[in-house]
Amino acid sequence: MKFLVSLVIFSLFLNGFATAQTLIQDSCKKAFAKDPQSSYDFCVESLTQDPQSKAATTLEDLALASTKNVAAKITNLKGIVAQDLKDQRYQDIVEDLKLCLGFYKDANDSLKTALANIKSRDYDGANSNLSAALNAPGDCEDDFKEAEKKSPITNENNILYKTIVIPLAFTTML
Ligand SMILES: *[C@@H]1O[C@H](CO)[C@@H](O)[C@H](O)[C@H]1NC(C)=O
Ligand SMILES: *[C@@H]1O[C@H](CO)[C@@H](O)[C@H](O)[C@H]1NC(C)=O
Repeated sequence: MKFLVSLVIFSLFLNGFATAQTLIQDSCKKAFAKDPQSSYDFCVESLTQDPQSKAATTLEDLALASTKNVAAKITNLKGIVAQDLKDQRYQDIVEDLKLCLGFYKDANDSLKTALANIKSRDYDGANSNLSAALNAPGDCEDDFKEAEKKSPITNENNILYKTIVIPLAFTTML
């Protein structure tokens, strides 16, 4: 009996795990059907690494989790830039980096609103607030281009952009 119960629990666990994996793959496939394979790959890879996204059982959950995933990325990136400033690592781009911190803060605020939007099932609102957040990485890079200086965080901004596109695509599917 004990064995049977364990077996049932184990099966349920496996089943839940499989559902989550399928949800991520199916949602990413639908979201990036018209995009290069790399967009799908990035979507699956990014969400599979995120415990909350992996635990999601509905597209709503996944939209919420992937938005939180972006917020964590932004906070992480903000930490990197703040540390660079503190260490005075880049003397000639201090103002540019500070400007980027401001963009990240605005994006973070937009994400917070987007989370509230998703929770209240206002997916259009979530979509426009995520679109607003999507501007941050490009605005940051544009500032470096205009100043004719080399951005030390181009790669991070590219990854951030691709990470925001995920919940943005999901909210259009809801
Ligand atoms: C984003 O907002 C959260 C609170 O919702 C906060 O903990 C975090 O430090 C903020 N990150 C940035 C980059 O402003
Ligand atoms: C964010 O969502 C709110 C609804 O909560 C909406 O009124 C607002 O226009 C959205 N913001 C942007 C920048 O689209």
